[in-house]
Amino acid sequence: MCGKEIIDLRSDTVTLPTEEMLDAIRTAELGDDVFGEDPTVNRLEKLAAERMGKEAALLVTSGTQANLISLMSNTKRGELVILEAESHIYWYEVGGISMIAGLLPWPVKSRLGALDPENVETAIRPQNIHFPKPSLICLENTHNRHGGTIITSDQIKAISEVAQTYGLKLYLDGARIFNAAVALKIDVKEFTKHVDNLMFCLSKSLCCPVGSLLIGTGEFIEKSRKLRKVLGGGMRQAGIIAAPGIVALESMIDRLEEDHRNARRLAEGIAKIERIQIDLRRVQTNIVCFDISGLGIAADLFISKLKEKGILALTLDENKVRMVTHRGIEKEHVEKAIAAIESIASERHLELK
Ligand SMILES: Cc1ncc(COP(=O)(O)O)c(C=O)c1O
Repeated sequence: MCGKEIIDLRSDTVTLPTEEMLDAIRTAELGDDVFGEDPTVNRLEKLAAERMGKEAALLVTSGTQANLISLMSNTKRGELVILEAESHIYWYEVGGISMIAGLLPWPVKSRLGALDPENVETAIRPQNIHFPKPSLICLENTHNRHGGTIITSDQIKAISEVAQTYGLKLYLDGARIFNAAVALKIDVKEFTKHVDNLMFCLSKSLCCPVGSLLIGTGEFIEKSRKLRKVLGGGMRQAGIIAAPGIVALESMIDRLEEDHRNARRLAEGIAKIERIQIDLRRVQTNIVCFDISGLGIAADLFISKLKEKGILALTLDENKVRMVTHRGIEKEHVEKAIAAIESIASERHLELK
């Protein structure tokens, strides 16, 4: 960061590759991955599958592509998919679930991102000529729109029991699953053992430039490989993407704790500011969401005022702002962000008096 320092808290997707990743890219052994001949991709896929306790993995271009492929792989067109009402698949993936996969999304509300098994059971309506066949349940962990909340292993297990009872598949959008594992200090397999398949992103807090991994049985991955090709995601010398992914899995996971500490520091600072509401229970990983309706200005305007002070953030809705900590955000950046929010709030306080 140089010149007028910009503190970018919009997302952990803004992270840049580390020097070690750049070295790994420069020296990666490459081949044509559509022919299955890129040794670096093969190594990453094997490593990722082992890490998740599953048979096989597939490197894909993005989290959105991973989710779309898994929706298509796990279902047939015309079927019904149960997902959490604030989930990324439902909100932010351009309706690919319907437009491309031909599925009916069936949103179910939750309080902190964890679906209630009873509500899922209710959503699985009895067979009836009027209803599409339910075939898949999707979970998200950590849960982005709920503020980086963690869905515990027991909560996933409870949903997996419902899925098994009714013969549905269970998929996990684990874009930030390592954040959940690090926060709870447990092995990531504690989550993955309860789901049929999942994805995680390399390009978020793990700092890789590109890529996500889809993980599941050998059969699921073979089907998904073909679907990736249909969607134009077959890549040739993809080892340049896989090489930093290997570095990420080997050395970027433990440091997520630092991001969580900074998020907590940020949230606790914000909690002290008058007229701003923050639910500290939700601040469990690297995402901090807060409500500025007490300031009497729209979140868009609040964000632009923050930008003038060198702080970048995103809106969640017209009253809510989201900030995400990541590699490159240090304690002093957090303090500057709190000070900037405080100064906007006190300006508004004077105007409102
Ligand atoms: C929970 C979740 N799933 C999926 C995605 C999509 O990932 P990508 O931006 O790589 O398509 C995101 C992106 O922020 C996400 O937060």
